Amino acid sequence: MGACQPDGPGRTRRAHSPEGANNPGRLSWRHPTCAGWSTRRSGTHALPRRAPVVHTAAVDGRTAVEALHGSTTHGEPPTHPDRLVRFRPLDPTNRPAPLKTYPDVEPVPLPRELRPSAAPAADVLSGRVATSQEAANSRKIDEGLLGTLLFLAAGITRVARTAGGDPLWFRSAMSAGNLHPVEIYVVDDDVHHYQPLNHALVPLRRGVHVSDAVTLVLTGIPFRTCWKYGERGWRHLWWDAGALLANLLAAADAHGVPAQVMAGFPDAAVSALVGIDGVDEVPLALVRLGHGDLRLPSPDALGPVVARADPVARHVLRFPLVVEAQAETALHADAVAGWREAARTVSAPAPTTVEPPSGADPDDRVEDVILRRGSTRLFRRERAPAPLLAWGLGAATRAVPLDAAPAGTLLEHLVNVHDVEGAEPGGYRHTAAGTWEMHVAREDARRAGRRLCLDQPLGGDSAYTVFQAARLDPLLATLGGRGYRAAHLEAGIVAGRLALAAVTLGGGATGLTFYDGLVSRYFGTGAAPLLATAVGVPETRPAPSGTPGRPVELSGYGRVMDRLAARFNRP
Ligand SMILES: Cc1cc2nc3c(=O)[nH]c(=O)nc-3n(C[C@H](O)[C@H](O)[C@H](O)COP(=O)(O)O)c2cc1C
Repeated sequence: MGACQPDGPGRTRRAHSPEGANNPGRLSWRHPTCAGWSTRRSGTHALPRRAPVVHTAAVDGRTAVEALHGSTTHGEPPTHPDRLVRFRPLDPTNRPAPLKTYPDVEPVPLPRELRPSAAPAADVLSGRVATSQEAANSRKIDEGLLGTLLFLAAGITRVARTAGGDPLWFRSAMSAGNLHPVEIYVVDDDVHHYQPLNHALVPLRRGVHVSDAVTLVLTGIPFRTCWKYGERGWRHLWWDAGALLANLLAAADAHGVPAQVMAGFPDAAVSALVGIDGVDEVPLALVRLGHGDLRLPSPDALGPVVARADPVARHVLRFPLVVEAQAETALHADAVAGWREAARTVSAPAPTTVEPPSGADPDDRVEDVILRRGSTRLFRRERAPAPLLAWGLGAATRAVPLDAAPAGTLLEHLVNVHDVEGAEPGGYRHTAAGTWEMHVAREDARRAGRRLCLDQPLGGDSAYTVFQAARLDPLLATLGGRGYRAAHLEAGIVAGRLALAAVTLGGGATGLTFYDGLVSRYFGTGAAPLLATAVGVPETRPAPSGTPGRPVELSGYGRVMDRLAARFNRP
């Protein structure tokens, strides 16, 4: 299966190279209805009003993040070319292990039966379920529910084979290049690592009594994704974590488990707790499931974890811009509360609920939606029904339970509409408050969409493509480089939610990469695009997923990828 390696464009752009054509031998040289639509042209500012920028002590890491951002944009020369690492992207002789393993420790199996949820998926994704059941479910979650949540967030669902017969694991959430750099640790009285392949937990610490509720720690292994994307891979850590969180939050909502995501936490204490070095594996986010305190011991108070992990790769490359951006955006324990307080002034209000769409299957459950999801590899160029955009975007951009966005959101959304019932094709700015402003009407919107997405056909064949975006100046001035991390995390959550909403309505979606500056210019905005998501009418559908410990073998994935490759030659 020559073309079955699912990958987006890596660091060195290949103008006509599809997702999948990895070209590993190449050496990179450095370097509701649509009734609420307005068709006002630019000039009228419909963006949410933001409070004046408040400067706090928590502005660390801005310079480091700006250096990384400016050196990893597609389509512009890097701002710090001398600081980029010369390396061979996708070096097949130094491929990172796709899964973290601890060879000397016996994992404890989790129940393999998925716990069914009761509410319709469309209600859950509209934010209509969590609040009503919250009070009844503030207890600690049991193993069966924990296993269900972990599988729906990060489980292995499908497997394809390389020409040599090696497995390529697909998982319940999407991930750029299918590289899955995110790991999950479960913290309560003990600390465990989640092993998706055998759906089990590896014990790392016993009797630490750190968290009254179950707290999940999400970490990222930079080299797993930088192996392909170089320094831009640092952004991918948060995108991929966000996509995983979209599934987790939806599943938690469906089971009435209150979930709170924390982007502000003391990095050193969290790293020590789960036994990572904070460089080759870094803490990304915490998720509290249920109610209760988290008491993180100081790093000095903890001994090393009992389990030894296998190395990530034969030779783990470090990228100085990545190492620096990560280190400089770390928070000390005494700065966390101030950082979260500052987030109040920079986040904008967003609705917590939206009206569920008419016509969604009332028997469909969130777990069904997640197990049907797989990134769309081919879109049909057809008109999409209005709810795919109006409800899909509304459900995806609802307020996130994220400490960095206490008012609702850090983002705005730039939408290129190609063919949606009732909507004029062109570029729109969609604000957190739900208003639309048309910036540019385009008869050739499909062509523009493809161009913006690094010339990938998926970007224009979709019914619409959304760019999650943020104004970096106020964000960085208020929340420092840590705000950049949080905004990327939220962008990933929105992308993941868009995919779930699309699948709920019978549509499909995929994350995409993009030309940074070109997108801002096209939409006439000072906001920087953080991630792109294409949504539309799928031409092919992924095979149904397997269940915990039993992924489904994919056949025909290579053929789909060959057809995707052929689309690059279509005008
Ligand atoms: C942040 C992000 C960026 C992505 N970028 C691209 C892209 O540029 N081109 C593409 O074809 N797919 C892209 N994808 C889709 C991934 O290739 C896909 O998720 C991966 O192959 C795993 O497949 P699955 O989503 O079906 O599980 C992206 C996904 C994410 C989460």
